[in-house]
Amino acid sequence: MNHSEAIERYRALFLSHLEGKQTTKEPKNLYEPIEYILGLGGKRMRPVLTLMTTELFGGDWEMALDAALAIEVFHNFSLVHDDIMDDAPLRRGNTTVHEKWDVNTGILSGDAMLINAYQYLESYPPKIFKQLISLFSKTAIEVCEGQQYDVDFETRDDVTIPEYLKMIEYKTAVLVATAMKMGAIIAGANSKDTHAIYDFGRNLGIAFQLQDDYLDAFGDPKTFGKQVGGDIMENKKTFLYLKALEFAPKEEREGLQHLYSIQPSDAKTKVDNVKVIFQESGAVAAAKSEIETYTQKAFDTLKNLDIPKKNRELLKQFGENLMRRTV
Ligand code: IPE
Ligand code: IPE
Ligand code: MG
Ligand code: MG
Ligand code: MG
Repeated sequence: MNHSEAIERYRALFLSHLEGKQTTKEPKNLYEPIEYILGLGGKRMRPVLTLMTTELFGGDWEMALDAALAIEVFHNFSLVHDDIMDDAPLRRGNTTVHEKWDVNTGILSGDAMLINAYQYLESYPPKIFKQLISLFSKTAIEVCEGQQYDVDFETRDDVTIPEYLKMIEYKTAVLVATAMKMGAIIAGANSKDTHAIYDFGRNLGIAFQLQDDYLDAFGDPKTFGKQVGGDIMENKKTFLYLKALEFAPKEEREGLQHLYSIQPSDAKTKVDNVKVIFQESGAVAAAKSEIETYTQKAFDTLKNLDIPKKNRELLKQFGENLMRRTV
């Protein structure tokens, strides 16, 4: 089996577990949005990582299914609430939950998904359950902190790169890291290895969010699945924005600051103008190199792991694929 077949196998195993859990329940306005968002697909990257990590450390993938489900359902909960906070119309090429139903529905269905995520962990024996739940809760709180920083930064004009990096570590990277660490815990890996795999996932997750920011501005609207330019419309202080401020000559820098202080009715012109500044200032090139740097940092942590070479290669392949992704 080559690497992409191995990854596809994990995805298929996860999907059949997910489908087995889905039942139609009342009230429909609570449960239909949950089925809707979970059924829209997505890359399923986090649950794949959980199953993969369990096997990498010699565990049984079947034992990891409920943890993988908890992670994916939590992720989907965070997307439903994130789309409300970001005023996003599109998710995975479809209407967002709060636009298809309404904001209140998005809030409550999201809440129910968060609770479901915890319930899926109940199937673990007490010793493992305890470890999973405390990791999960620590991570969930960090995601909230990251999301709050992200929103706070929209209206701040003095955000620094270190602040940005902390924000994306919390809103995105810690969940990727946790998806992997849970897999390691389930496999009974030693604490050196569980730490190392968390660090791998954390660095990969930072690279992943940098790439997400890049795609938000420069992705192909036909395939990206989200509204291209959404971050610019919302004045998100992304790596591209912060680097453009640092690199652009005075006139362009002031132009960019001005564009980020207004909410014009003609959003498209704002997006187009900002993208030119991102490109010409060298911010795009800096973002690409930062993505490489964090992916390499992730690969470096693999040196500390006691796993067979074949498994190390699989993790590397996964990281390489993420860097090349277009969705
Ligand atoms: C989107 O995550 C939210 C971020 C953390 C960037 P994904 O890009 O993994 O979304 P899906 O699940 O594949 O749709
Ligand atoms: C999302 O960051 C992080 C979480 C959902 C916790 P983004 O706001 O960049 O994610 P997308 O781009 O909407 O998927
Ligand atoms: Mg968003
Ligand atoms: Mg967001
Ligand atoms: Mg994004």
